Amino acid sequence: MNRRSCKPALMNGKKIDDLIVQQLLELADWAPTHAHTEPWRFIVFANDKVQQFCKDHAELYKANTTAEKFETSKYEKLLHNADNCSHIIVAYMKRGTNPKITVTEEICSTAAAIQNILLAASTLNIAVLWSTGGLTYHPAMKFYFNLNNEDHILGLIYLGYSDNAPKEGKRVTALKEKIGWKK
Ligand SMILES: Cc1cc2nc3c(=O)[nH]c(=O)nc-3n(C[C@H](O)[C@H](O)[C@H](O)COP(=O)(O)O)c2cc1C
Repeated sequence: MNRRSCKPALMNGKKIDDLIVQQLLELADWAPTHAHTEPWRFIVFANDKVQQFCKDHAELYKANTTAEKFETSKYEKLLHNADNCSHIIVAYMKRGTNPKITVTEEICSTAAAIQNILLAASTLNIAVLWSTGGLTYHPAMKFYFNLNNEDHILGLIYLGYSDNAPKEGKRVTALKEKIGWKK
């Protein structure tokens, strides 16, 4: 398995064709979904909207951080993190109205949709990072996207190409410690 995360700072500025991004989203749409609630939603930033979103993200950080906690380096990182990215996909769970389907299930389903994107991106040598950094979980971000209170932003997915080979994967807990076979 060679799926790996790639930091946006290691991306090279080359653009992904929008049609390929659309295909990644079509794969995302085939995530498993209990009772067909299909809760995954995506907001796709491309071209100069990528920088615009980063600028807005940095400003949201500034507006929602006290002077004592504000870090210029963090502001600059949010502002310039994606300078060499091609697209940013904001993935969120839109809470459905079926009371039998739990929030956990809706979040799992949306996370599966995100993983479909990551796996497909890897096969196409697209560099990708699922990030929950910055204000991803902050109510201000939900407000920015006009989401309902019960919706959840699950991540900012940074996409691009990289000249660097994917870094070697690291797992700190042995697989055998994560599995209990009964036979
Ligand atoms: C829910 C979630 C949130 C993550 N948020 C961040 C993040 O904010 N910043 C970051 O650098 N990586 C983030 N990652 C990526 C992990 O750092 C990365 O998956 C981990 O280092 C393992 O590397 P690998 O994906 O190459 O196996 C996140 C991953 C997940 C699943």
